[in-house]
Amino acid sequence: MELDVIILAAGKGTRMRSSLPKVLHPVAGRSLLGHVIATASTLKPAKIVVVYGHGGDVVPRTLADAPVTWVEQAQQLGTGHAVAQAMPMVGTNARTLVLYGDVPLTKSSTLERLVRIAAEKPDSFVLLTAHLAKPTGYGRIVRDGAHRVLRIVEEKDATEAERAITEINTGILLADAARLRGWLARLENKNAQGEYYLTDVTAMAVADGVRIETSHPTDLGEILGVNDKLQLADIERRYQAGQAENLMRQGVTLRDPARLDVRGELSVGRDVVIDVNVVFEGVVSLADGVQVGANCVIKDAHIADRTVVKSHCVIEGARIGADSVIGPFARIRPETVLAEEVHIGNFVEVKKTTVDVGTKINHLSYVGDSVIGKRVNIGAGTITCNYDGANKYVTVIGDDAFIGSDTQLVAPVEVGAGATIGAGSTITRNAPADQLTLSRVPQVSKPGWKRPTKKPKG
Ligand code: UD1
Ligand code: CA
Repeated sequence: MELDVIILAAGKGTRMRSSLPKVLHPVAGRSLLGHVIATASTLKPAKIVVVYGHGGDVVPRTLADAPVTWVEQAQQLGTGHAVAQAMPMVGTNARTLVLYGDVPLTKSSTLERLVRIAAEKPDSFVLLTAHLAKPTGYGRIVRDGAHRVLRIVEEKDATEAERAITEINTGILLADAARLRGWLARLENKNAQGEYYLTDVTAMAVADGVRIETSHPTDLGEILGVNDKLQLADIERRYQAGQAENLMRQGVTLRDPARLDVRGELSVGRDVVIDVNVVFEGVVSLADGVQVGANCVIKDAHIADRTVVKSHCVIEGARIGADSVIGPFARIRPETVLAEEVHIGNFVEVKKTTVDVGTKINHLSYVGDSVIGKRVNIGAGTITCNYDGANKYVTVIGDDAFIGSDTQLVAPVEVGAGATIGAGSTITRNAPADQLTLSRVPQVSKPGWKRPTKKPKG
C-alpha cells in the first residue's frame, strides 16, 4: 500500500523571537524542517506533503529543492485543520503518516516500526506515544480497562484524573487516508482552544470499530519539539551527542565527545583521532590514521591517510594527500589539491593551488592560483601576487625549486625546475631552471655615517 507523509509546519513559533519561520532554524547546519523531510524520505514514501503557513512562502522558497508538495494553511485553525488541507494531495488509499516540522530528531527506525505495525492490519491506525514522568503540556492517551486506546484528551480539556495519565501523545500518527478523510471532515472546534484537533480523530476511529495500536520511540529526544532557543540548543546538543556516539562506534577517538560539531556528513577511516572543538561542515572524509588538532574548522574536504592537521586550521574545499602535515594556524581554501607528504605551516594561506609531493610551505605565506612541483621549498613570507586589481594570474613553480624568504612572485610568472630565488626578491619575469635569480638592491655600507641627533629646543 502507498505511503504518503504529511508534515505540519504552519505554526508561527512566537517564542523563537525571530523573523525567521521556526521550521527554518538550523540544527547541525540544516533546517528543522529539512531534518524531518530527510527522515521522511528514508521511508521512500510516494509523496511528502508539507503544510506551511506562517511567514508566507519563505519556507517553500528556502527549501525549493526539497522533494515535497507544498500546501498552504493560510490560517492556523488547529492540527486537524492542517492535516485536512493536505489530504487532497494524498493518495486515495494511501497510508498517511503525520509528522511535525519542528520535531527533528525522530529516527527512521521508529517510523519504520509504525509502518510495519500498520502493514499487519487492514484498517490501520497507529499512534506514537511515550511515557513521561512529567507529561505537562502534552495530550494524554485515555485507555479502557482492557488497555485499549479510547481517545486523546488535550491537557487544556483534561480533567484532574486525565491529567494524571503519564502516557502522552507525541503527535505522530499513521492512519489510512480513506478513513482519515471522513473523520477530518467531521471535526469540530468546541474545545478549550477553539481549534480543530487532529487528536479528536482517535475517538472517531474507535467509534468506527478501528483498533488503535501504539508504538514508542527508543529515545525520548525523538519526540521533542522546538518552541524556543533553549529547546533549539538542547536539540542541537542531543543531535551532536548522537553524531559523536556514531563516530566513536566506528572507532574514532574523540578527546571529548561533548566538544565536537558535525554539520553535515563526516566519514572516517580507522584510527582517526579528533581533538576538542573541531567543527566539520558539508561533506568531509578523513582517511585511516588522520589526526585533527584542537579548534579546527573543516568543510567539504578529503584528507588522506595519516595526515596530521594541527590545531587552529581552517580548511575548505580541499583535497589533502597522505602523510602531510598541516598547521598549526593554516588556512586552506577552495580548489586546493595537495599531494602526499606536503607540509603547510603556520600562517600560510593556500588558495586554488596544486602542490606536488614533498613540497614545504612552512611559514607566513600566501600561495594562490599556483601550480607547484615536487620537493619545492617555499621560504617564509613568500607571496604570489596573483591579482592586478582586475584579473587573476597563475604562478608556476617547477620541481626542486627553492624560493627564498620574503619573495614576491608577480603572476603570471614561472619559476623553472631546480631554480633558486634569492631572499627578498620581487620576481616579475620567468626565472630559468637551475639558476639563481634575485632582484635585490646590492647591499652597501657607508663608513663615517651617523644617525641624525635631536636638535636642542630653542
Ligand atoms: C499537539 C497535540 C498534542 C500532543 C502535542 C505534541 C493536537 C490537538 N494536540 O499539541 O496531543 O501532545 O502536539 O507536541 O494535535 N500546526 C499547524 N497548523 C495548525 C496548528 C498546528 O501546522 O493550525 C503545527 C504546528 O506548527 C506544530 C504542530 O502542528 O508544529 C503542533 O501544533 P501545536 O499547536 O503546537 O500542538 P500542541 O498544542 O503542541
Ligand atoms: Ca507543540
